[in-house]
Amino acid sequence: MEQKKIIFSGIQPSGELTLGSYIGAIKNWVNLSEEYECYYCIVDMHAITVRQKPAELRKRTLSQIAQYIACGLDPDKNTIFIQSHVPAHAEMAWVLNCYTMFGELSRMTQFKDKASKNAENVNAGLFTYPALMAADILLYQADLVPVGDDQKQHVELTRDIAQRFNSVYGDVFKIPGHYIPKVGARIMSLTEPEAKMSKSDKGSGSCIYLMDKPEDIIRAFKRAVTDSETVVRYNPETKKGISNLMTIYSVATGKSFQDIENEFAGKGYGEFKLAVGESVVELLRPIRERAEDLMKNKDYLTQVYRDGAEKASRTAARTLRKVHKKLGFVER
Ligand code: TRP
Repeated sequence: MEQKKIIFSGIQPSGELTLGSYIGAIKNWVNLSEEYECYYCIVDMHAITVRQKPAELRKRTLSQIAQYIACGLDPDKNTIFIQSHVPAHAEMAWVLNCYTMFGELSRMTQFKDKASKNAENVNAGLFTYPALMAADILLYQADLVPVGDDQKQHVELTRDIAQRFNSVYGDVFKIPGHYIPKVGARIMSLTEPEAKMSKSDKGSGSCIYLMDKPEDIIRAFKRAVTDSETVVRYNPETKKGISNLMTIYSVATGKSFQDIENEFAGKGYGEFKLAVGESVVELLRPIRERAEDLMKNKDYLTQVYRDGAEKASRTAARTLRKVHKKLGFVER
């Protein structure tokens, strides 16, 4: 039998999952699970590069697992686990730190951006974050890493690190490629359509969380920033707000941009925004209800993340052992 290709991806539990996380990432993950062997990780170790409140981090990590499952990720077909439960990630990150250059890390735009936003806490973990991400990916010999554009630079650095290591020690790591999904790769903020919808923008109305109540969703869409024209037309250059809403509506209803332009020809933005809001309420309703149910079943969630960690550990240990041997570490 032909070996399935391997996919690895992760989301930080640094904020609640958003409509952007669903459309841009998790929805695509669900479609990949037949064709690929998939590892989906909740990267709590990455999350602590920025200060977190312990009780909230714990709760969000668990609810992220519930939400993954509620979005349709089947734990029997995908390996769902928590990064800190597989110590090989920390061990491999240390090794890779020694094969990652100061200059490379200094050039990472996410580091520069986060360092300027958290000037009081520019810690070493924030700086070496990409080496931990490389460890995540390389431990599983992933072929493909589905990520948004903002993470492309980190995946490219992962390739460089893997190539550097391989050039010294032979073919140890698979060189991963990134995978940017075709539709809705990037859902934008509802209030600033130039910026990506971010889970850390809490309370600004810019972002829809998967667990938001219907009335909050409708309110946010009613307030969404559009433009001074009155025509529903797709043009992501000049009509960023409307185009973002059209993308969302298209994903929620399955309608094409042309269908949507026809449906709202001669109608105002108010009517369009309400329709988008209602479609999102219906899209998220079953996800929210399922996740709420799952959150009541802690034993089941525990089972899922323990099984996931056990499975992930087996694969990760194999790669780590090989790396340690190549480096000249004495076998345990
Ligand atoms: N850095 C990614 C983000 O913030 C999360 C992440 C961590 C990740 N490790 C990963 C994504 C490995 C893909 C593969 O979005």
